[in-house]
This record gives sequence, C-alpha cells and structure tokens, in this order.
Amino acid sequence: MLAGKKVFLIISGGIAAYKSLDLIRRLQDQGATVRCCLTANAKEFVTPMAVSALSRGPVYMDQFSLKDESEMGHIELSRQADLLVVAPATANILARMAAGIADELATTLLLATDKPVLAAPAMNVRMWTHAATQANVATLKSRGILFVGPGEGPMACNEYGPGRLAEVPEIVAAIAAALDPRRPLAGKRAVVTSGPTVEPIDPVRFIANRSSGKQGHAIAAALAALGAEVTLVSGPTALADPEGVTVAHVESAREMLAACQAALPADVAVCAAAVADWGVDGIATQKIKKEPGGAPPSIRLVPNPDILATLSAPGAARPRLVVGFAAETENLIAHAQAKRARKGCDWIVANDVSIGTGTFGGDANQVTLITETGSDAWPALDKRAVAARLADRIAEALS
Ligand code: PMT
Repeated sequence: MLAGKKVFLIISGGIAAYKSLDLIRRLQDQGATVRCCLTANAKEFVTPMAVSALSRGPVYMDQFSLKDESEMGHIELSRQADLLVVAPATANILARMAAGIADELATTLLLATDKPVLAAPAMNVRMWTHAATQANVATLKSRGILFVGPGEGPMACNEYGPGRLAEVPEIVAAIAAALDPRRPLAGKRAVVTSGPTVEPIDPVRFIANRSSGKQGHAIAAALAALGAEVTLVSGPTALADPEGVTVAHVESAREMLAACQAALPADVAVCAAAVADWGVDGIATQKIKKEPGGAPPSIRLVPNPDILATLSAPGAARPRLVVGFAAETENLIAHAQAKRARKGCDWIVANDVSIGTGTFGGDANQVTLITETGSDAWPALDKRAVAARLADRIAEALS
C-alpha cells in the first residue's frame, strides 16, 4: 500500500512516543521508507538508539550538527520526503507549528517543508480541550495540516477523554490516504442501509415496500471506491453484493437496527433504506388459514425502532456524520427539513417519490441535499451519479 513512499516521522515528547516505534514497523511492513527526527523532549521518552535500529537509518535531532548538515541540509531532509508525520504531536509542538516557531530541528523542518504534514495529537484531556490548543489546531487545519485522532479513552495520566494517540493502524491508514488523494476515505468506516425491510405476518406473508436497493447499494460502492471500509446493511433485494463491501443481509427493521449497531463504531452512517415504520404485533407462527366464508384477519401494527434516529442520538457511539433520506410525496423540502430536525441527523437527502417519478425501483433520482448550512438541489441523475456526488461531499466533510 505504501511501497516506495518516503515518510519523515517527527516524534515529539509525550508518553505516547513509545507507540511511534510500532508505527515505524507498521509503515515498513507496508513498504514505506521511514526517516525519523526526535525533538529534545522526545529523547526523554524513547531512545535515539531504538528509533535508529527500528528505522534502519540515522535519527535526526540536532539543528546544528555539522555531520548531518554536511551529509544533507535540513531543508533538503524535509523535501526528500513524500509526507511529514508528527506522531505523537504534543500540545507544545502544535503550538510552535501554529506560531511558526523554528527553535529546534523538528520545528525548523516543519516550517521549511513544502510537503504535506499529518499530525497525530496525543496529550492530557485538559490540554487537548484547552482553548489555546483548539485554536492552534484550527489554525493548522486552515493551513492544510492533516490530522488523525486523537482518540478517546483511559489515559496514562489516569484521566478519561479525548487526547489519546490514534491507534497505529488508524495512523497508517491516514498516512495512506494523505499519500493517495484519490482515496480520501481510507481509514474511515461507513455504515449504509439499503433496500426495503420485510415485516412478517406469518411464515409465508409479509409487509414490504417498493425499494430496490439501487440507491443504497450505489452509495455503499461509492464510499468504498473512495477508500472507506463499508458495511452495507441490506434488506432483501435482487442486487448482487457490491465489490469490496461487507454486507449484512437482514429482513426486518429490528434486524436492520441490530446489524447497524454491530457495525459501529463508524465515521459516517447513511440511511437510504426504506424501513417499515410499523411491524406486525404478534407474528403468527403458523400460516393464517383462510376459512371458507370467514372474515379476513385483522393485523395490528406496532411501531418499529427508528434506525436513523437511534444512530443520530448523541453518545460515544454516534458516527461523526449521519445522513438520512426523506422520501416524500408532497412539500418535499419542508417535510425533509422537519424530518432532519426530528431525527437528529446532520444531513438529509430529500427525495421526491410521488407517483410518476419512478424513484422507487428506477435508475434515476433527483434529490436535494439539506445540510446544516442550507440546501442544494441536484439535477436528475443516475443513482450511481447521486451516490458518487454524495460520497464526495462526505469525503469533504470528514477530511
Ligand atoms: O431502493 P431504491 O429503489 O433505489 O429507492 C431509493 C429510495 C427511494 C428508497 C431512497 O432514495 C430513499 O429515499 N430512502 C428513504 C426511504 C424512506 O423510508 O424514507 P422515510 O422518509 O420514510 O424515512 C426517513 C429516514 O428515516 C430514512 O433515512 C429512513 O432510512 C429512516 N428510517 C425510517 C424509519 C425507520 N423505522 N427507521 C429509519 O431509519
């Protein structure tokens, strides 16, 4: 995945620095060449000897080393890399990067480079949430510095919260994505629902709807094409499973919800399925018999769980971005906006499904994307083109 790529790893001084040793190995496993630079503080946490032995090369530390400078100037050092990675990135080095301070070799390289830079922050939770750190991160992001993490969980300082170094595989995936802009969702996880749900009445009869799954399946494929790890949770359809996507086949709304929850954590959830709002109360275990001259049976319906609202509910498991669909036959935009607010999702794709549109089951779709900032009416497009546009917007939002 990273064959021939040159990664210049800057290790700054935090307790998570020991994880950078594993990062070096994992990058080499993928075929990358790794050169390393330690800040003065990093030497308190990992030894230059260990870093040199693992990276199979010199370790750069001293801005005024005659030997290093005569072999390769420090500006050249940063320019020979394809990507500079700061892992762990402490609050201190982020502050120096934001302020443009070049007070040692690491920060000088970061100021001098013309290559992309990816930072993996790791620090105490209060340092991470401090307004100064958040402002520095915002400044760096606005200059195009890429970030991966931090994660959330128990920390070395006995506290709990955001500030943990992202897991090494996550950093490797972010490095791969940074080096291959055509796969901007590499390292990101997505859950997509698609197709109808089927609510059994008895062993042979059910309530369902006209969804073919074409739109949801196309979205799963489009996200996978951009590098995401996708779980498609699909009701019964006649479609083949999309390439490179994990598919959970379900029938009822309850099964669909359970499969979605099993696929978490995810960075994004897209709910394109036409989920039955009601299931049958007391599903018959035997086929309901039609007695000659008998009255038709009455079926009592009970509400199904709302998958979109459940995934949108605040909490640690909530995907960063939740996208719903609103299938409407009248007052499209007003109803879709109300649905977005009621269900708590971030975006909603308003879909006119009135008679004559052929949206259910057809190949084309005309949608309006409603986000926090406004609405954008797209022209009528093939469902795969709708999916590709939506995947691009998702990649932008998650970058
Ligand atoms: O499958 P195709 O033939 O390609 O057709 C595509 C489509 C028309 C099904 C699709 O584009 C679409 O609009 N999907 C949403 C259909 C729908 O059920 O919309 P809704 O307005 O009833 O529901 C709103 C949202 O809540 C949807 O994201 C739906 O997935 C979700 N929902 C609804 C009920 C429920 N119990 N759980 C849910 O998650």
